[in-house]
Amino acid sequence: MTRPFDSSLDRPAIVPSMLDADFAHLAEEVADLERAGADRLQWDVMDGRFVPRLTHGPDVLRSVRGLTSLPFEAHLMIDHPEGLWSSFVEAGADLVIVHAETTRHLHLLLGDIRRAGARAGVALNPATPLSAIAHVVDLLDLILIMTVNPGQGGQAFIRSTLAKVAEARALLAAAESPAEIEVDGGVSAATAGEAVRSGASVLVAGSAVHRHPDGRAAAIRELRAAAVRR
Ligand code: DX5
Repeated sequence: MTRPFDSSLDRPAIVPSMLDADFAHLAEEVADLERAGADRLQWDVMDGRFVPRLTHGPDVLRSVRGLTSLPFEAHLMIDHPEGLWSSFVEAGADLVIVHAETTRHLHLLLGDIRRAGARAGVALNPATPLSAIAHVVDLLDLILIMTVNPGQGGQAFIRSTLAKVAEARALLAAAESPAEIEVDGGVSAATAGEAVRSGASVLVAGSAVHRHPDGRAAAIRELRAAAVRR
């Protein structure tokens, strides 16, 4: 099944991270985020090794896949994703994002993900330079520039990563690639504008969506209003 992946610099996609969702009421959480205007959902998959926390596996995605038409992103914060990514595609992930730091054979892995019928994305930690993915631009549907060190919600946006967002935009333009550029970590109404102005077209937000005092619809409206190029 193909679910729509629309984003542009004029209308950036707003993607709640599920890391801070209430897992005791996951079905209601998914429905609430869809009603609130989310464009997709991002599942933060953590292995307790690449990052200290341990979260969910593919069965969790599968359990709610039938409840929403929103596209699912699986952000794999796991060492050696080669043996595990396909179980997330089988569970209903439309886009699989692997970290460049976690695999020795990125080119091969991205090709495998695409051949399985999913979109392929690659994430870069704040310390990882864009040159790590220059050789795979033609295999990418999305570049995720981490704007915090992965592992926890609620951290402060690392402003120095914006230069890498701009660099990624230039790399895609030079390659005439339609791939998306996503930012994740510390994204809020205060930081969304500069991320978009630097070249991001997809904004992942955890605490800004789940912990907004007026609820998630208000949070997503605020993010949309802030995510403008001017
Ligand atoms: C960090 C995760 C993020 C996190 C974002 O490792 O990948 O998705 O949940 O949370 P906020 O938006 O609170 O920084």
